[in-house]
Amino acid sequence: MVIRKLYLKNFRNYSEETFSFSDGINVISGDNAQGKTNSVEAVFFLCTGYSHRATRDKQVVRRGETHARIECDAESAYGKVRVAMDFYTDKNKSATVNGVPVAKIGELLGNVNSVFFSPSELKLIQEAPEDRRRFIDISLSQISRGYFYALQKYKKILSQRNNLLKDVDREMIIDTLPVWDVSLAKAGAKIIAMRNDYIKLLSPFATDAHLAITGGEEELSVEGDYKYEGDESEIEKQLLADYKERMEKDLELGYTTIGPHRDDLKIKIGGTDVRTYGSQGQQRTASISLKLAETEIFKEKFGEYPTLILDDAMSELDKRRRERLLYLAGKMQTLITCTEPDVIPDYKKYNNIRIGGGKIIQGETDQ
Ligand SMILES: Nc1ncnc2c1ncn2[C@@H]1O[C@H](COP(=O)(O)OP(=O)(O)O)[C@@H](O)[C@H]1O
Ligand SMILES: [Mg+2]
Repeated sequence: MVIRKLYLKNFRNYSEETFSFSDGINVISGDNAQGKTNSVEAVFFLCTGYSHRATRDKQVVRRGETHARIECDAESAYGKVRVAMDFYTDKNKSATVNGVPVAKIGELLGNVNSVFFSPSELKLIQEAPEDRRRFIDISLSQISRGYFYALQKYKKILSQRNNLLKDVDREMIIDTLPVWDVSLAKAGAKIIAMRNDYIKLLSPFATDAHLAITGGEEELSVEGDYKYEGDESEIEKQLLADYKERMEKDLELGYTTIGPHRDDLKIKIGGTDVRTYGSQGQQRTASISLKLAETEIFKEKFGEYPTLILDDAMSELDKRRRERLLYLAGKMQTLITCTEPDVIPDYKKYNNIRIGGGKIIQGETDQ
């Protein structure tokens, strides 16, 4: 899949701009705070319906304006597609695919695909299980709308069960809980089974990518919790049994203490936990390897690579890792942002776009 064109109107610090991207590597460079991340953020919005930044939709509308529009044209083996989104300061965003409004944001998924790496992705390694679950949830949602909808459903039932657990009428809770447990176990089992499959698929790709970037020096492994194994109906039974066993605890704490919302990933290099023992460079490389593994899953699932976005990924890698990463990225369309293009080996070979003050500016590296 290749994104040919990106159009931004009143999006963040852009007033109006059109980007043309080529196959292979595109280098988007510019000083700090000029609009590099903003441009790739727009791409990710069009792929998934939301931003990788924890941001409110309305905040993307250029200060002083009331409406923003972003649009991209992409080509895949399935044909051409144009995805557009409109943001307003006084109402919710909306989206169209080939001019047809989408009723739910979930319908955007799978039209244009990208995998996004940004420095904040280090959270994936360093921080709470929540960030690792988020990674799996976003990746899986992009390849499976079924997963996206299942996750929404699970979260809704979970919050209803948690509300119930907070009620003061203990007898009523004990009477009502089994009903919620049945639907929560059903929804939860679906999530867990799909995640288990996904992680088993991801893990060898992540190991390979990491070996490739480190020149064979480091062996990365990724494992799920696998506390619940087997097919969906087996997991459902295990969950139900655990809800019963945990009822007292859940009642005491006022929330559901087990299930897929508590899962984690184990990410190791050479058998030791990267989160605790890895250097900053190893953690960065590991999170990039996970992203590259994600691109391989797209390839397996859809027969073609997504667009890889590497936002500020290069500056903290040594030269050899940069070269190897670039080699791997060269298999697919890649958008790389950086302050100085010369961090990219042989950058002049690629499509260079220089950004300044929310505009594409002419520069010696421009084509
Ligand atoms: N809604 C908005 N309206 C106007 N400017 C914005 C808006 N949101 C962000 N910006 C500006 O965008 C700039 C940051 O752009 P960004 O793409 O993150 O920079 P970088 O080039 O370093 O990646 C900041 O100057 C910020 O003030
Ligand atoms: Mg940036």
